[in-house]
Amino acid sequence: MAKTFLLCGGAGYVGSHMAKLLTKLGHSVVVFDNLSTGHSKFTKFGEFFYGDLLNNKDIKEAFKTRKFDAVMHFSAKTVVPESVKDPAKYFENNVIGTLNLLKQVLKNGVDKFIFSSTAGIYGEPESVPIVEGSTLRPINPYGESKLVIENILKYYYTAYGLRSVSFRYFNAAGADPDAEIGESHDPETHLIPNIINSILEKKSTLKIFGNDYNTKDGFCVRDYVHVNDIAEAHLLGSELIENEAGAFTFNLGSGQGYSVMEIISKIEKFVGKKIDYKITNRRQGDAEVLIADIKKAKEVLKWTPKQSDLDIIVSSAVKWHKKLLEEKM
Ligand code: UFG
Repeated sequence: MAKTFLLCGGAGYVGSHMAKLLTKLGHSVVVFDNLSTGHSKFTKFGEFFYGDLLNNKDIKEAFKTRKFDAVMHFSAKTVVPESVKDPAKYFENNVIGTLNLLKQVLKNGVDKFIFSSTAGIYGEPESVPIVEGSTLRPINPYGESKLVIENILKYYYTAYGLRSVSFRYFNAAGADPDAEIGESHDPETHLIPNIINSILEKKSTLKIFGNDYNTKDGFCVRDYVHVNDIAEAHLLGSELIENEAGAFTFNLGSGQGYSVMEIISKIEKFVGKKIDYKITNRRQGDAEVLIADIKKAKEVLKWTPKQSDLDIIVSSAVKWHKKLLEEKM
């Protein structure tokens, strides 16, 4: 049956892939976004509502447009190093923005809420792969802001019956296979886009932040999960809380870890070019190894990452960045 969703941050990287998937399946979507990091070109899936979560009036107006079956909340400031430099921006935007949204969710009788959390809430994990029950000890304000919201959602379930799913994303990567939408931040801070841009644009040398980590090759290890696999998990999450009450949490990763150098080698092979890079100091707020245990999402949601093979991630990301560059030229 067709449903109606409000997607806050639906013009961003993950949100736009979600909007595309939902509209393709015949659901009705309203994208709420202030376009601070989202893109107006990404608002073509569903209806667009320009608004800011720090402005209560905007949120109230958005809720007047439809009766929503569920709200998906992707809006956030998400850059780890920036959060270390300016924590106030992260707590104000991420926590206060979410509280404002939740107020209207409750007022309007919506009882299903899907939240984009992060692997950053585990901090430096005690052991990998990381299970959902691991100690939550963020090492940067970004991760802390997301943990605060996960805790709020637990209390809102107990007190108000708001059903929720918090998805702890590991490293969202890759792009829509049609290259209509993809990852594009300004400034770009993420590894895969930075590697691809350093090859395609040749404007700057790629910096690698540290080679003295206690890992197989000295470089940080991350778990890359395709953005469309993340979108599918959200859909399954919304179905779960239709049938079951609770405040659920799930890791979303591929279950595989790759070091920064392994990613560089993979992309070098794919494009057939050598990459120029410079090794610099460690970046503040970076954990050493983050790899997800994805058993819970597989068992409870019946989710399997279908596009998170590194070859698919890299080929879709390269296709998207090539298109982006052509548009800029
Ligand atoms: N890196 C470089 N050079 C770059 C960019 C990144 O060496 O130009 C390194 C980083 O130091 C890190 C790894 O590549 O070791 C991945 O960095 P990203 O910036 O791509 O991603 P992060 O792991 O810092 O963060 C991402 C999300 C967070 C989330 C985290 C959890 O942006 O929201 O994954 O896995 F918390």
